[in-house]
Amino acid sequence: MSSNIQLIFEKGNNAEQQNYVPKMDIDEINLDKIIPEKLLRNELPIPNVPEIDIVRHFIKLSNKTYGVDTGIYPLGSCTMKYNPKINENIVRLLGFTNIHPLQEENEGSLELLYHFSILLGEITGMDGFTLQPAAGAHGELVGLLIMKKYFENKQTKKQKIIIPDSAHGTNPASARMAGFSIIELQSNKQGEVPLDQLKFAMQDGDVAGIMLTNPNTLGVFDRQIKEITRIVHEHGGLCYYDGANLNPMLGICRPRDMGFDIIHLNLHKTFSTPHGGGGPGSGPIGVVTELIPFLPEPCLISTKLGVVCRENNDKSIGRVKAFWGNFGVIVRAYAYILALGAEGLRKVGQIAVLNANYVRVLLQVNYDLPYNRICQHEFVISDRNMPNEVSTDDIAKRILDYGIYAPTIYFPLIISGAMMIEPTETESKQSLEYFVEVMNKIYEEAKQDPEILKKAPHNMPVKRLDAVLAARNPILHD
Ligand SMILES: Cc1ncc(COP(=O)(O)O)c(C=O)c1O
Repeated sequence: MSSNIQLIFEKGNNAEQQNYVPKMDIDEINLDKIIPEKLLRNELPIPNVPEIDIVRHFIKLSNKTYGVDTGIYPLGSCTMKYNPKINENIVRLLGFTNIHPLQEENEGSLELLYHFSILLGEITGMDGFTLQPAAGAHGELVGLLIMKKYFENKQTKKQKIIIPDSAHGTNPASARMAGFSIIELQSNKQGEVPLDQLKFAMQDGDVAGIMLTNPNTLGVFDRQIKEITRIVHEHGGLCYYDGANLNPMLGICRPRDMGFDIIHLNLHKTFSTPHGGGGPGSGPIGVVTELIPFLPEPCLISTKLGVVCRENNDKSIGRVKAFWGNFGVIVRAYAYILALGAEGLRKVGQIAVLNANYVRVLLQVNYDLPYNRICQHEFVISDRNMPNEVSTDDIAKRILDYGIYAPTIYFPLIISGAMMIEPTETESKQSLEYFVEVMNKIYEEAKQDPEILKKAPHNMPVKRLDAVLAARNPILHD
């Protein structure tokens, strides 16, 4: 990275300087009796800098990062919505931070986890949940392992999964990891699953089921969804719902009512917990009653004695994460759901759809919309009609110069030069209009001064990178 910020560990090595690191005031322990000598270091290069320099160093770094607290973050498929600060206060209550899952007095936390599962059940219609998976993709893997075990238990080994080409990339990856091979369905002109192809694929007796997100990554709600799940069930398959796109569906329709048997949710998207950079996340799995015995363990069930922990059921796929999952993420999501209530959640879904459609209609004046129909929480534009061969990459880099994070680019793969835009419900009308204004300015620049786009960004700490070289040979500091 070309930046003028020194690493904190390179600072303060001047011997003349005052010594800011306090002397040890406890008896030295003879560490080499406890730790093998070859694992011990003789030097500990703690930076010799005063507190104020450390604070300035990290504040400078934090000013170079971008997040939902900095500005609009229209990253399609990621639901980067505002994370209410009150949820941060709640998760920091000492009752939550000062406990350990192995201590005995943790009934309150177990009660919270159990009640949270009940709420997820109400929202989605599913009968049982595990909260263990640490991300959406982890949830997918767990859900597919449940599917696999279900068929093994029926002594019918099924090896294939149907996945439409509009699926999130993690779907086929998870299916492969769970040991399935993939039958890909090509979306039709409306961006939906072609029923004739689905019926044909289901003739193959080796198919375990379908994996589907609805709305899909084009932001399109598949109107044939009940017919799709009916066809799969009719042939003895199971239906897996990638619930990462649940945000616009909240309080409006439920995956169970669409006919799904297994679902995962992304708490870090739909239920507004902080995420980015790969985590921390939470991807609970919900299942119908028939599949509850296969859930990972331990799992919480309600009895007359209160919430108890079920373990050692030989049908279970086993443990998939330490303890109960990412507890802090779950507490934040729980607070979010309780604060909004049923009406509030419904409004979340409605405004997410309204905001996306508002931006879609304003952008269609200058930008190509390959699937231009009422969308759900997101939609996809492309660089097809851009003047002077300006590409999606150029547009995405130039957006940064205007102080906005770029949409998801070159995904979904079925649209060449895709830009996937998801404004979310937490952006104001002014903020949405600012985004459109920037996009329109960029279009004008493409006509009049394309070089400015091709060399963008101009005022970021990191300029245009050779993306291929950077991926293969990253230089992580000066
Ligand atoms: C539709 C869809 N499925 C699955 C995932 C994977 O979720 P995660 O990134 O938490 O693994 C995402 C992530 O954005 C997604 O948008």
